[in-house]
Amino acid sequence: MVGEMRAVRFDPQRADAGAWARYHELRHIKHAEMRPDDPLEPDDVVEVRMKKASMFEARHHFEMSRDGVMVSTFGSENVTPANPEYATNKHLMWGDIYVRPEQRRKRVGASWLPTVIGLMKEHGCTVIGIGADRDPGHAFLKWLGAEPKLEEIESRLELADVDWSLMERWVEEGARRSPQTRLEIYDGPLPGEIWPDFAAQRTVLLNTIPFDNLDIGDIIVTPERIREHQERSAQLGIVDHEVLTREADGTISGMTDVSWAPYRRTHIEQQFTGVRPDARGRGLGKWIKAAMVLHVRELYPDAEWISTGNAGSNAPMLKINRAMGFKSYRTAVDYQVGIDRLEERLRTM
Ligand SMILES: CC(C)(COP(=O)(O)OP(=O)(O)OC[C@H]1O[C@@H](n2cnc3c(N)ncnc32)[C@H](O)[C@@H]1OP(=O)(O)O)[C@@H](O)C(=O)NCCC(=O)NCCS
Repeated sequence: MVGEMRAVRFDPQRADAGAWARYHELRHIKHAEMRPDDPLEPDDVVEVRMKKASMFEARHHFEMSRDGVMVSTFGSENVTPANPEYATNKHLMWGDIYVRPEQRRKRVGASWLPTVIGLMKEHGCTVIGIGADRDPGHAFLKWLGAEPKLEEIESRLELADVDWSLMERWVEEGARRSPQTRLEIYDGPLPGEIWPDFAAQRTVLLNTIPFDNLDIGDIIVTPERIREHQERSAQLGIVDHEVLTREADGTISGMTDVSWAPYRRTHIEQQFTGVRPDARGRGLGKWIKAAMVLHVRELYPDAEWISTGNAGSNAPMLKINRAMGFKSYRTAVDYQVGIDRLEERLRTM
């Protein structure tokens, strides 16, 4: 049983070498179990990332350890009042629980409940969202009383399988069907002069993503948030690439971005692709996605695959991805549960 274990805060600013060694040991086990095909984020990169505080997101880390061995972690985040999304997202917390495989089904996961509830109260959050992509996670979250809200599909494209002539055709067709539209490519940090325009259009586009039944507020990108993102990328050695389409009047009508990192040279991550609703149906989505994959091939000859995530209900995006050769790799479900339900679960445990 849980016995003498206590939930304690893991503070990245104060953690000594022993605490980090404990943390990384469990993190490596988690990675091997949950993400076996992915390159492992190096320990030093993780430490830099976790030590860098964000103006816009409060991050919380907790551990349960016994005899110097970390048995379980709980991590979560919520928006800060400085975040422009605070007004519509302040009730939401997002979390993740991990229990060492040999310590499962002993109510270790369940024993996080007082910490989770206490933290939610401290930050004024009334709903927590947690994702699962394996049976134990689904079973645990159902036991908790959480409801499935959004199905997300991670798809992967093996670059060795890409039909390059099809990609070249998509680029030619895109340009032919929209002769007034220009394609722009930015490698590395986006120049500051386009931040206001880019932030405004990205905000519009991100809010067109289908989130099914997820309780989620507005997504708001600002130049200040782009600055923070760029500082973080620079510290971690991450390089971003952006492909945009711009209409004759200067409006950004479509965007797609990928990121590369030295510790995952074979694995390119594609974050967001969006086309303005009034510019849809002209092949811009295919144009920017094809231009990006051709660009990746040129920049990173040793890259092996591109991964991306979409809501299972996002038919237009999935259609383009499948036509490019992206294959479904993993399906995750985002669950949410209210604090009242968690308190009831705790009372009846
Ligand atoms: C999900 C996870 C955190 C559960 O931790 P745990 O300590 O094993 O869970 P608990 O013992 O506290 O389980 C509480 C209840 O959840 C349900 N449950 C948990 N794991 C289950 C499983 N593998 N199969 C069926 N039911 C399960 C049971 O109802 C259990 O109560 P019971 O044992 O009295 O029947 C753990 O399996 C894990 O770390 N998985 C990998 C990470 C992950 O998927 N995280 C996302 C979800 S939080």
